[in-house]
Formats: sequence, structure tokens, C-alpha cells
Amino acid sequence: MDFVDVAKTTFAAREFTDEPVPDDVLYRIFDTARFAPNGGNRQGWKVVAVRDRETKKALGELCLGPMRVAAAQTRAGEVYWQSVTPSSINIADAALDESLPIAIPMFEHLEDVPVVCIIAVDLKVVASMDQFLDRVGVVSGASIYPMAWSALMAARNEGFGGTLTTLLAAQEPAVQQLLGLESHEAVSAMLTIGRPPKQLSKLSRKPVEEFVFVDHAKGKPLTS
Ligand SMILES: Cc1cc2nc3c(=O)[nH]c(=O)nc-3n(C[C@H](O)[C@H](O)[C@H](O)COP(=O)(O)O)c2cc1C
Repeated sequence: MDFVDVAKTTFAAREFTDEPVPDDVLYRIFDTARFAPNGGNRQGWKVVAVRDRETKKALGELCLGPMRVAAAQTRAGEVYWQSVTPSSINIADAALDESLPIAIPMFEHLEDVPVVCIIAVDLKVVASMDQFLDRVGVVSGASIYPMAWSALMAARNEGFGGTLTTLLAAQEPAVQQLLGLESHEAVSAMLTIGRPPKQLSKLSRKPVEEFVFVDHAKGKPLTS
């Protein structure tokens, strides 16, 4: 596929056929993704590609708590999982409240997703430039997310697809235990990869004029 087509049509695929993702395809996906930029070229990423049904099921179950929290916060009129304004809900209680809806069925049947890739970032090697700021860290993950996105685009290029989610970061100790990751290997993303029944071609995004401004944040919008 042409690069621009790949970049503009790599949508968040959450439904997949039963077709497996062969090892050679998965290898090519990460063989492309490994050229992504990353801080200091330290390549502090590790990918655990999970095909084992029981392990996928366990990962799916770990996703449900954070999703229930999102549902409770949405119901309370909050922006779910934001870190600036304290939440009015009890996070621990909401995570266990099975009456709360799971908005995305894929997570309830994660064992059916052909391959689930957990991406960890090694905090012993990446530069966490915002570590002394009084807010949640955003920089460490920046050394793996370009790679994760390249992997999704490479999957799209192969006719496959997937979704990047960060839900499992909220369950990091359990994921580390399940997959044998070390405590300094932070759980940064999960990519669900498979063959979508249909490839989308028109994604909903703001036009450039709405978010690129010339010289000043209140300057003239960039036009062609
Ligand atoms: C950092 C990040 C976190 C995301 N977390 C989730 C998630 O927890 N669950 C999910 O279903 N999709 C998740 N997504 C996928 C987004 O929902 C998706 O990229 C966005 O809605 C655009 O979808 P589209 O490309 O199909 O238009 C995440 C994407 C990113 C980049």
C-alpha cells in the first residue's frame, strides 16, 4: 500500500475474523516497527506476543476493571481516567462492580483475538525527562508509542489491523506477574492484532486548519 493510504486508513480494529496472524506476518510487522524513533535510540521496548488462549483470557479479564472505572466516571459526568481533577467515584469499588457496562465487547472475549501484543518500556534505559514534574509522567511512553503505531500501520499494510490500548497499564503488577516482566518494565500498550472483517477507509479526524497555527497558538490556521 501507499504510505499515505496506510497512514490515513489505519483505524482502530476491534473485530477480527478467525484467521490467524502467521508468525512470518507478525515478524514482518515488528521488523518494520523497530525502525521507529525512540529517545537516544535506546530501544527500550519489549513485546510479548500472546497467542495462548488462557493468557489472552486472563489479560482480557484484567482489562475489565479499568473499563468499569471508565463507565462509572462517564456516568458521573467525568472525563474517564483523566489525572488532573480528582474523581468523585471510588475507583477500587467501581473496578469490581460487575453491574457497570463494558463498552467494548472485544475485551470480554480477548481470547478470540488472534494475537495480543503487550508492549513494555524498560524504565532503566529510557530517559524520563518529566520525572521531577508534579504531574503524571508522559515522556517515558513516548519512546515506545511511535513503534506501537508503526506496528499497527505495518499490520494494515499486510491487510491485518488492530487497536492500541493502554488499559492494562492500570493493572501493571498483575500483567508483569502473568507475563514474567520485571518491575522496571512498565506496561505501556496492548495491541490486539488480527484480520478485520472489513477495512475502513474514511476515519473521522479534525482538519489541519483546526489544530495547526502559524507562529502563535492564536495565530492564523495553516492552510494549503
Ligand atoms: C493512547 C491510546 C489509548 C487507547 N486506548 C484504547 C482503549 O483503551 N480501548 C480501545 O478500544 N481503544 C483505545 N484506543 C484506540 C482509540 O480509541 C482510537 O485510536 C480512536 O478512537 C480513533 O479510532 P479510529 O482510528 O478507528 O477512528 C487508544 C488509542 C491510543 C492512541
